[in-house]
Amino acid sequence: MAEAFRIGLLGHGTVGGAFETLLTERCEQIAAITGLRPEISGVLTRSRGDFEEILGGCDLIVELMGGLDPARDYVLRAIAAGRHVVTANKQLLSHHGEELWGAAREHGVQLRFEASVAGVVPVIRVLQESLAGARIDRIHGIVNGTTNYILSEMASRGCSYADALADAQRLGYAEADPTEDVNGRDAAAKMAILARLAFDTPVHIDQVTYEGIELITADDMQYAEDLGLGLKLIGTAERIDGKLAVRVHPAFLYSGHPLASVHGPFNAVTVESEAITEITMSGPGAGGPQTASAVLGDVISAMIPPASTPETTQALQIVDDVESAFYLHMEVEDRPGVLAEVAALLGAEGASIKSVVQQGLGERARLVMVVHPLLESRFFEAVARIGSLDFLRSPPRAIRVIDEEFV
Ligand SMILES: NC(=O)c1ccc[n+]([C@@H]2O[C@H](COP(=O)([O-])OP(=O)(O)OC[C@H]3O[C@@H](n4cnc5c(N)ncnc54)[C@H](OP(=O)(O)O)[C@@H]3O)[C@@H](O)[C@H]2O)c1
Repeated sequence: MAEAFRIGLLGHGTVGGAFETLLTERCEQIAAITGLRPEISGVLTRSRGDFEEILGGCDLIVELMGGLDPARDYVLRAIAAGRHVVTANKQLLSHHGEELWGAAREHGVQLRFEASVAGVVPVIRVLQESLAGARIDRIHGIVNGTTNYILSEMASRGCSYADALADAQRLGYAEADPTEDVNGRDAAAKMAILARLAFDTPVHIDQVTYEGIELITADDMQYAEDLGLGLKLIGTAERIDGKLAVRVHPAFLYSGHPLASVHGPFNAVTVESEAITEITMSGPGAGGPQTASAVLGDVISAMIPPASTPETTQALQIVDDVESAFYLHMEVEDRPGVLAEVAALLGAEGASIKSVVQQGLGERARLVMVVHPLLESRFFEAVARIGSLDFLRSPPRAIRVIDEEFV
């Protein structure tokens, strides 16, 4: 009979419950691989268990409570007591990652967190291990399944944002309170973690600029289709002139982009580097059993060493004014000279137009265009001036376009 490997489980909700079920199912196979038989030696929820007692009786802590407090305190105490820790908590790592990784290095234990970004998609492992030798230039990610589901529904059914959100809630793809999903903050936390690993530089969630999908209309989707574009909530982390930009915003993609075909609640991450060209990983981004599978993978890895998150080797300056291509949507009066005036204001800021669609007559006249990449501050300067033109019937709407073609 293999020796027991005792797991203290903090949190027994959607993921914690699924983790216990999966561990029970896979126990024999894990014992065969590792020579140790994993078992849950204690469970902590709000109504049962005592943290000190669980810590004293375990070899490893799995933290699936979520939130910052008391998760940070428990994880630090577990590390200080020499226990490996596995967590799925993106909030915790995007706020306190450096402190926790530093503590893990100091105490010689592993802190694993595959399930904190993109659920079961093994992106953390790939960045930490498989691509450890590559110099990464850029990461694009669809790292929030709720918003990807909503945008996919709006595109395929032509429905409104509100209707697609209601469907997502009914099907369990969105929380009762979906604020942090739809406003981009959930994706920002995940991009902070990916950027930290890919660029070896400390990144706090407050350094990630983010914008959500709440203002996207069915109209935008329709025009985008005419322009050959599809809309996603995209997280980007990229090197720019020796600095680092990390951001999340809705962005249009041309159909050849590897993320353009990722639909529904799926997540996907594209890693670009000169050495490897481009790698895309995709799969389910959430769900109890799926997330539990990533957590169990981390537990098995911790049972057979090594791996700890290395110290940061750089402190890249983080910038937020970067170059981007844009989609610009304007409801205009139906009269001559409108396009010329808009083009002149864009041109004054160095923006040139890539494609234009003019549709509708009278009250329904629309002018929709894509402009070539330029510094975002200059584009928004031009949009502010366009916004005060007398022929505009409502404020102009701008959405970034990821202007890369992959063949
Ligand atoms: N759900 C997903 O699909 C998914 C996907 C990827 C990552 N994650 C991450 O996985 C973690 C867990 O998510 P979840 O969906 O399983 O959450 P959940 O269903 O809300 O479960 C949370 C569990 O933690 C316990 N808990 C919360 N605060 C506590 C406290 N102060 N003291 C003791 N126990 C406490 C709760 O206890 P009670 O039972 O007493 O309330 C509950 O058992 C989060 O970090 C989340 O971001 C989730």
